[in-house]
Amino acid sequence: STYNIAVLPGDGIGPEVTKEAVKVLKALERLDSSISFTFTEFPWNSEYYLQHQQMMPEDGLEQLQSFDSILFGAIGDARVPDQISIWQLIMPIRKQFQQFVNFRPVKRLKGIESPLKNDKPIDFVIIRENGEGEYSNIGGSMFAGEDREMAVQNTIMTRKGVTQIAEFAYQYARENNYTKVTNATKSNAIIHTMTFWDRIVEEVAAKYSDIDYERYYIDAIAAYFVQRPEDFQVVLASNLFGDILSDLGSAIVGGLGFAPSGNINPTREYPSMFEAVHGSAPDIAGKNIANPIAQIWSAALMLEHFGRRDLYEEILAAIEAVLEEKQVQTPDMGGNATTEEMGDAIIRKLG
Ligand code: NAI
Ligand code: MG
Repeated sequence: STYNIAVLPGDGIGPEVTKEAVKVLKALERLDSSISFTFTEFPWNSEYYLQHQQMMPEDGLEQLQSFDSILFGAIGDARVPDQISIWQLIMPIRKQFQQFVNFRPVKRLKGIESPLKNDKPIDFVIIRENGEGEYSNIGGSMFAGEDREMAVQNTIMTRKGVTQIAEFAYQYARENNYTKVTNATKSNAIIHTMTFWDRIVEEVAAKYSDIDYERYYIDAIAAYFVQRPEDFQVVLASNLFGDILSDLGSAIVGGLGFAPSGNINPTREYPSMFEAVHGSAPDIAGKNIANPIAQIWSAALMLEHFGRRDLYEEILAAIEAVLEEKQVQTPDMGGNATTEEMGDAIIRKLG
């Protein structure tokens, strides 16, 4: 089949790592006649904002809607407030296309040493609620500059929203032979929304008697990720908690260069979007030294979403083959290979 991919390279290292991901997909297309792609690039980034005063055109979402999938780099530039780049580009895509699952594998690849004094396998997935929760634009502030200045930010949790993310987590667990789902909560302190979250999650959990349920407070989970990461299988978390846990998760498996993600619309009514967990990394942008593995891995997740688990595994095996040789390593791994050299090395291991 042919898949039409919308490519949004974004800012900073976004274009650098996305170029490598596209290169890998093109190499795969040459090796495997059963799959092909078209790539359509959209220049919607902070530069675009500075020229047009908006992150994307009025009909931007309509333009994206007909694609099979979106490959997203990263967004963020010192010249544009982060809340503009996030709320005018990433959030509208996630919300409009009902990408209510943020799927984030935490897996220590072969050849990667974890900073933890523990060589047990780390292989779990964080399923983060991606459409509501703490990342809402409801709230406000007043009395600017006065002693009584204040701000309020509301968290939104709905029965539908919590049910569907919990259902996804349990379905995913069942289909992938996981035996346990861990609920990340904070209902001891956040007494309205988090107790609600727990109650709905537990309603869903009760329907899956074949899968164990456990519930920990988010602060405790943060410690357990470091102390006994091998115990986790599927971690179900709200929008904010899942965001934080996934950067922590990346740190125990080699850093942000090894954290892929998918923003998934499980009904497939709209395109899903795949992007590395990391941001635009302005501190290393433009130097051709970013690690492209997270973005290449995200592209592999896209293929898995298309039903090509075989190609997902092929890409992952190629990445691991490069890592195990320890010849080509980007600076975040302690080496001096360039972004492009890493992409090339992975392509040489394909097929
Ligand atoms: P960041 O993820 O961009 O960078 C954090 C640190 O990790 C930096 O030291 C960076 O050099 C390093 N790093 C990240 N990715 C790397 C890679 N592939 N290879 C090697 N090193 C890597 O997060 P930060 O600095 O908090 O945010 C920078 C900008 O990115 C901000 O404007 C932020 O809003 C934006 N951002 C955008 C996201 C998105 O597009 N989805 C997600 C997170 C942040
Ligand atoms: Mg994040």
